[in-house]
Amino acid sequence: MRDSAARLRDCLLLFTVSSLFSIVGGEAGREQGLPCSGFEPERCRCSKDLKEFYCRTAGFERVPGTLPAFVNKLDLTSNNISVINETSMARYPLLEELILSDNNLEFIHPNSFSKNLFLKRLLLQGCGLKEIPSEALTPLGKLQTLQIGNNDVRRVEKGAFGGAATSLRSLRLDANRLGVVPFDAMAELAHLEVLNIGNNLIKSLASDAFPVMENLIVL
Ligand SMILES: *[C@@H]1O[C@H](CO)[C@@H](O)[C@H](O)[C@H]1NC(C)=O
Ligand SMILES: *[C@@H]1O[C@H](CO)[C@@H](O)[C@H](O)[C@H]1NC(C)=O
Repeated sequence: MRDSAARLRDCLLLFTVSSLFSIVGGEAGREQGLPCSGFEPERCRCSKDLKEFYCRTAGFERVPGTLPAFVNKLDLTSNNISVINETSMARYPLLEELILSDNNLEFIHPNSFSKNLFLKRLLLQGCGLKEIPSEALTPLGKLQTLQIGNNDVRRVEKGAFGGAATSLRSLRLDANRLGVVPFDAMAELAHLEVLNIGNNLIKSLASDAFPVMENLIVL
């Protein structure tokens, strides 16, 4: 009991802190990080140790293949990337955070992330997605945060979260086109702590709708 209360508190705290950071990050925009000579200096900024790259609104139409292979965080928000193919992400096996929000992703290859086994955060907000890229998620057994808000997802099937089902802590599915709560898929997310499913087309939500997940906060 104490344990789960503590986890809940940590989780809320983390959420608050990370939303603070994203506001700060949003304001700073491309100014985040330093100029990174030798690695897309015109389009990206990076951390001193070259492990984090911020390439927002940089006009990329493909995932750049020119960054250091040991990159840990890659922010490609608001580019013009339409395809993640089988090799796009393979160059970056140590990635823990990948932000592809606000791209028009027409295709995510089922094997897109087969080399990104350490991925913990995957942000796909506002990418025009019509479904959860289930097969691509299959190898992601360490994924804790998945954001697929503000897309066109209509349904979420059982098994939709692939190998990430047991690791996911935080899931955003808000502002999609879901007509019902996807209970079968949710029931597999044993460690989910934060779920945002607001602003969909769901008409009713019973108060005991999420009985099995004692740590869950539904936003
Ligand atoms: C984005 O890419 C599409 C093709 O995929 C192209 O038609 C469009 O002009 C590009 N937009 C910008 C802003 O570069
Ligand atoms: C896959 O995408 C990468 C960039 O992400 C590109 O360099 C490569 O040519 C593409 N491969 C194929 C087969 O289209």
